[in-house]
Formats: sequence, structure tokens, C-alpha cells
Amino acid sequence: MGKFSVLFCFRILVIFGCLGIGSAMEEEIGIYQLKNGNFTMKLTNYGARIVSLVLPDKHGKLADVVLGFDTITEFMNASSPFGATVGRVANRISGAQFTLNGTRYKLPANSGNNTIHGGPIGFSKVVWKVNKYSPEGHTPQIVFAYHSFDGEQGFPGGLLVIAAYKLLGDNQFCITMEAKALNKATPVNLVNHAFWNLGGHNSGDILSEEVQIFASHYTPVDSKLIPTGETVTVKGTPYDFLRPNTIGSRINELTNGYDINYALGGSGNNKLKKAAIVHDKKSGRVMEVLTNQPGVQFFTSNTLNLKGKGGFVYKPHAALCLETQGFPDSVNHPNFPSQIVNPGKSYEHYVLFKFSTN
Ligand SMILES: *[C@@H]1O[C@H](CO)[C@@H](O)[C@H](O)[C@H]1NC(C)=O
Ligand SMILES: *[C@@H]1O[C@H](CO)[C@@H](O)[C@H](O)[C@H]1NC(C)=O
Ligand SMILES: *[C@@H]1O[C@H](CO)[C@@H](O)[C@H](O)[C@H]1NC(C)=O
Ligand SMILES: *[C@@H]1O[C@H](CO)[C@@H](O)[C@H](O)[C@H]1NC(C)=O
Repeated sequence: MGKFSVLFCFRILVIFGCLGIGSAMEEEIGIYQLKNGNFTMKLTNYGARIVSLVLPDKHGKLADVVLGFDTITEFMNASSPFGATVGRVANRISGAQFTLNGTRYKLPANSGNNTIHGGPIGFSKVVWKVNKYSPEGHTPQIVFAYHSFDGEQGFPGGLLVIAAYKLLGDNQFCITMEAKALNKATPVNLVNHAFWNLGGHNSGDILSEEVQIFASHYTPVDSKLIPTGETVTVKGTPYDFLRPNTIGSRINELTNGYDINYALGGSGNNKLKKAAIVHDKKSGRVMEVLTNQPGVQFFTSNTLNLKGKGGFVYKPHAALCLETQGFPDSVNHPNFPSQIVNPGKSYEHYVLFKFSTN
């Protein structure tokens, strides 16, 4: 990885200086394209999300490797946040509540008794501002911004949020997710929730795709997918992807497929580290994911069943997600890496995607 590209990912924060405070509800929803050679990404400010990513396979044949829909209405209607920036706190918060500095915060529950993905109207379901848009040139990029109000979906304090997408050349792109707590301490866990299928969004299931996850430990969960609080070794479990293995190799040993957080180690700095590599032998496409976050959620779209782009029906395991993140339900597990951002302080999340063919 070039130092150059990493530097390009970092430090969007200066943009906060020119962030308007007006209501984002007045923003129009648009589709925006970033293009660099044969690498083309489409995005929308509805949920600051990736709509499509078209890139070549080993024979130069182009395909869209991100699941989604042909219309914004369908993105709005979908129960999963396809391609979106999820927040204020992605993943689950048990019992839809937490205590911070002696104050108990109750959130709307939207997954049984728990809150998932920031609540019923999280950041994936709001319209963001477009602060900057350069569709072509050396570093095609788009910067989305959102001003979350104090008490939005039950969370404390105002929060200024940025999600920036940049194409870096050499079939790489990065996402920078930043948030500044304005007046109260608040948990923050932003996640990009793209559903990937390196064979193409309409190529069937991902069970034959090979994955390597650079984590020796994971955080086990209960039947409601809430972490028990332990961090245990992957050794001897179907969660062991320290060596590359096909996703389907041991998926039947699990009740419902993969939906689990891996501990990547070495949190607390801005260094990018390898999280995972995915290789689809048929198309030859390879995707490498690097991040500064302490965890990554590996999810295999276990109950998917809906009509997507071009009317193609996405079935269970039609895609995989690698959501770089803080640990799920961290606000209720003091032993997990903290997600609390204090007033005047900022949250910084970087994730770099490198594509190649092999
Ligand atoms: C785009 O793909 C075509 C066909 O495979 C290839 O000839 C061309 O070199 C590619 N362009 C870039 C910029 O990679
Ligand atoms: C909305 O979602 C429901 C449930 O998945 C589906 O049955 C319906 O066809 C969708 N409607 C539109 C307009 O996409
Ligand atoms: C929610 O919590 C209540 C009280 O603990 C329990 O009776 C109920 O089964 C829970 N519901 C779900 C969907 O987990
Ligand atoms: C707790 O409250 C104190 C005093 O208001 C404040 O300085 C501090 O930032 C708060 N910390 C958290 C984690 O909320």
C-alpha cells in the first residue's frame, strides 16, 4: 500500500469548518458517479451509500460487485442498509439502552428488545448533504455530511458526521468516516454496510468465494446476537479464517451462517491494518480490506430474499459483508474498546479497499 493513498484517506476533519447547520431534510436525493479508468462507483446521499461498483474481472469483463436496487424508493423500502453509512451506533445495543456518566439513555428498539444500526431512522435512512463532489480527475471523490441533533434516535448530544469516498487509482478506494461530538459525550460507531459479491451482484451465492480474516479472536454472541462479553480464540471453530478458506467450507456447522465480530487487535491508533481478503476464483477478483478499527463484522446475508437490481432475486448467501467497526454493544461492555466520544473530540474511521485479479 502506498503511503500516498493512506494519506489521502485521512483527515477530512477540516471540512467540519464549512459544514452548514441547516436541516438536511431540505436536501435533494441524487445519484453521484466517481470514475477512474474501468473502475466506476455510483453513490447516493440517501444514507451516504454505495449504489454500485463496476470493475473488471481477470478477463477484463466488467461487473457490478455490490448488491442493491435500481431505484432509491427500493433502497428506502429495504430492511437492510444496502451500501449505506450506518450510525450513530451500528450493530446492536442490548436492551435498547445504556448508561453514560450516570445518565440512562433509552433508545427505540428495532430488533426485538434491542436497537440495531442506530435505530429505526438511523444515518442510513436520512438524507445527507453533499459537501464536495469531484467525479473525475486524479482523485475522484465525494464528501457527504450530516448534522445529527441532540436526542436523535435517543442518543445524547449533537454530532457532525462526515462520510467521504475517494477513488485512489490502481483499483483502490477508501472511505473516511468522521464524527465530532458537539456538546455531550456519546457513543459513535459508523459502519459501511456494502453487500459484496465479487462474481457480480447477480452471480448467485458467495459460498465458493475464499476469505481470509486476520483475527485470532472473535466475540461470541447469544441467541439474539448480543455479545456475551467474552473474546475467544477462533482455533478449532468454523470462525477460523486465519488461512484462506471457502466461505461454504464450514458454514453448515453454524445455525444461521456467519454474523460475527472479529477482534483485529491493535486498536487506538490511526494505523491501517489488514482486516480481510476475499478471492473469487471464478472471476479472479480479489478484494483486500484494511482499517484502523478494532473489529470487523463478517456477515453472509443469511436470510436475504428480495428482488434487487434488474429484477434479480437475492437469496440467502448472495453476498458477504465485511463491516469494519467497534465491537457490538460496546456501550454495555466496559471491557470492550470504548466507543465514547467526548464533547469537542472526534471519531475517525478509515477503511481502504484494494481490488486486483488473480
Ligand atoms: C479498461 O479495460 C479495457 C478492456 O479490458 C482495457 O483495454 C483498458 O486498458 C482498460 N483501461 C484501464 C484504464 O485500465
Ligand atoms: C417493499 O418491501 C416489501 C418487503 O420486502 C416488498 O414486499 C415490497 O415489494 C417492497 N416494495 C417496493 C416498492 O419495493
Ligand atoms: C423482551 O423482553 C421481555 C422482558 O424481558 C421478554 O418477555 C420478551 O420475550 C422479550 N422480547 C424479545 C423479542 O426478545
Ligand atoms: C462526564 O461529565 C463530565 C462533567 O460534566 C464531563 O466533563 C465528561 O466529559 C463526561 N464524560 C462522559 C464519558 O460522559
